[in-house]
Amino acid sequence: MKFIVKSLEDTKKLANAFFNSLNEKGLFVTLTGDIGAGKTQFVRDVLKFMNVKENVTSPSFVILNEYKTDLMPVYHFDLYRLEHKGLKSVVDELREYSKDGILTFIEWADFAYNEIPSNSLKIHISYDEDDINTRIFEFSDVADENGEFLNKFKKETEKL
Ligand SMILES: Nc1ncnc2c1ncn2[C@@H]1O[C@H](COP(=O)(O)OP(=O)(O)OP(=O)(O)O)[C@@H](O)[C@H]1O
Ligand SMILES: [Mg+2]
Repeated sequence: MKFIVKSLEDTKKLANAFFNSLNEKGLFVTLTGDIGAGKTQFVRDVLKFMNVKENVTSPSFVILNEYKTDLMPVYHFDLYRLEHKGLKSVVDELREYSKDGILTFIEWADFAYNEIPSNSLKIHISYDEDDINTRIFEFSDVADENGEFLNKFKKETEKL
């Protein structure tokens, strides 16, 4: 599924559709795309819909930020600083956080591509060459496990 998002406001709408589609199973989401593409922005918008009042930033230095929400716990990883070193230390945690009932976001999942649980939903964000505020969001899924989420998400995004 591909979405052309023309403004921050549209990114928020996409995040709202994402939030509306969540179910009690939770979701394991990988986020890829160049620096400044909008990975953190998307997580920030989703967390806003989950009523998180804290300031959401890239967890680049701490690797992991954790948020309590009414719906489910949210874990937000950023693997950028790990690159290929130190990865082993988070691999076990990644497995732990792919369990049901948790929403997990992994920025720079490219750095751990062979450690990412197979049930992950992939979001790739890229720049548009012609407009600085436009982003292309591509959602892809390898597992059938997220079918319930994706069916809902398809309906939600039809309204956009
Ligand atoms: N349509 C849009 N969607 C998302 N962000 C946008 C959009 N238009 C402009 N921006 C801007 O792009 C920037 C995205 O920054 P963000 O920190 O989310 O990127 P990132 O992918 O997490 O980068 P990093 O790899 O450094 O963590 C923000 O400054 C945001 O205001
Ligand atoms: Mg970021």
